[in-house]
Amino acid sequence: MSEPNDLSAFWMPFTDNRGFKANPRMFVAAEGMHYTAAAGHKVLDATGGLWCVNAGHGRTRIVEAIRQAAGTLDFAPTFQLAHPLAFEAASRLALLMPEGLDRIFFTNSGSESVDTALKIALAYQRARGQGTRTRLIGRERGYHGVGFGGISVGGILGNRRQFGTLLTGVDHMRHTHDLARNAFSRGAPQHGAELADDLERIVALHGADTIAAVIVEPVAGSTGVLVPPQGYLQRLRAICDAHEILLIFDEVITAFGRVGTATASERFGVTPDIITMAKGLTNAAVPMGAVAVRREVHDCVVNSAGPGIELFHGYTYSGHPLAAAAAIATLDVYAEEGLFEKAIELESYWEDAVHSMKRARHVIDCRNVGLIGGIELEPRPGAPTKRAMEVFHRCFDTGLLIRVTGDIIALSPPLILDKSHIDAIFGKLTEVLATID
Ligand SMILES: Cc1ncc(COP(=O)(O)O)c(C=O)c1O
Repeated sequence: MSEPNDLSAFWMPFTDNRGFKANPRMFVAAEGMHYTAAAGHKVLDATGGLWCVNAGHGRTRIVEAIRQAAGTLDFAPTFQLAHPLAFEAASRLALLMPEGLDRIFFTNSGSESVDTALKIALAYQRARGQGTRTRLIGRERGYHGVGFGGISVGGILGNRRQFGTLLTGVDHMRHTHDLARNAFSRGAPQHGAELADDLERIVALHGADTIAAVIVEPVAGSTGVLVPPQGYLQRLRAICDAHEILLIFDEVITAFGRVGTATASERFGVTPDIITMAKGLTNAAVPMGAVAVRREVHDCVVNSAGPGIELFHGYTYSGHPLAAAAAIATLDVYAEEGLFEKAIELESYWEDAVHSMKRARHVIDCRNVGLIGGIELEPRPGAPTKRAMEVFHRCFDTGLLIRVTGDIIALSPPLILDKSHIDAIFGKLTEVLATID
């Protein structure tokens, strides 16, 4: 594949466009654990693309399923009509969800899943006669994609401040990041369960009868890998129950084996009312997202509606045949290769490797859960994020794909990796950190 010579038309997302176009770094192929860069060298993928290629690159079974679907039924609407693959994909996905969350709404991305979940929560409260419950609660440092709903409940300043007043009636709980008490925690940090009580503060301020739902990432990813403190999610669940507030887990990155189970809900033993997903659902081979909804929530919205459409929401491509085929094939690959279990088996080796970075230059924290690693660097005085960005570029140029967010390195490799890949990732990272000021 040759490199395009005009880079001006593509306005790249979440990118320093001027910096990139002055010094482009591109991929032209991918297979297994590696990308091939346009410059010709192999790049070991320590981020599963963008937290999404959980089964590794170029999976023939998934590619073939997409090819076959495209050749058979390129598109069929799912508004008042449908096609069989969409139903099959939904049934298969429902089997992986925690008990009771067996109604599936399809979207095309994580952002759409989040906005869909928030709308379902509002529709549900109204359907059950609690129409005053319109408030949505997120959390500081939360990332829920880029729709207006998602950035409103999200808690990352940079993603919000260019876009006006956002949704009204939104509030945020405090985040759980606490280096003073929890630095270098292995797995779930010991301190911070009491931060869930922040929801009580919000209830006391606004009244529970104005709150529809709370949304959190069980493990916050894009803000830099924040593992929930021990007992935190349980406490959040209990407070939601006490006040009849719906609990939404945004599992766009945590679902599909990333934490060694089908969902983080399963891993942490806390069942929300709604789960949002995307990314690993199709191994990222074609876009698809989904929202799993507790059956009673679905039934309440559907059964309380008058004749006709029950939920005025949907996307032209909800349950697209290519995406549905890819999802079914991807779930087959996960099951047949036991990839979720494999992630659990590798977790302690991965954890030791993540924490070996404690000795590397500039590192002020290491954290991990499942096959996720977060390595926080000391920011350069007066120039936050610069050091991590240099590490990112140097890694790419020398054959390793990492992700950086602020001054935090976030790692989430394909679940097919083995110990030699883990050694290579952390060996290279240590080497690169030693060369960066
Ligand atoms: C937790 C979470 N929610 C939502 C999204 C948005 O997904 P998408 O980029 O597919 O819209 C992401 C993306 O990283 C995410 O991590």
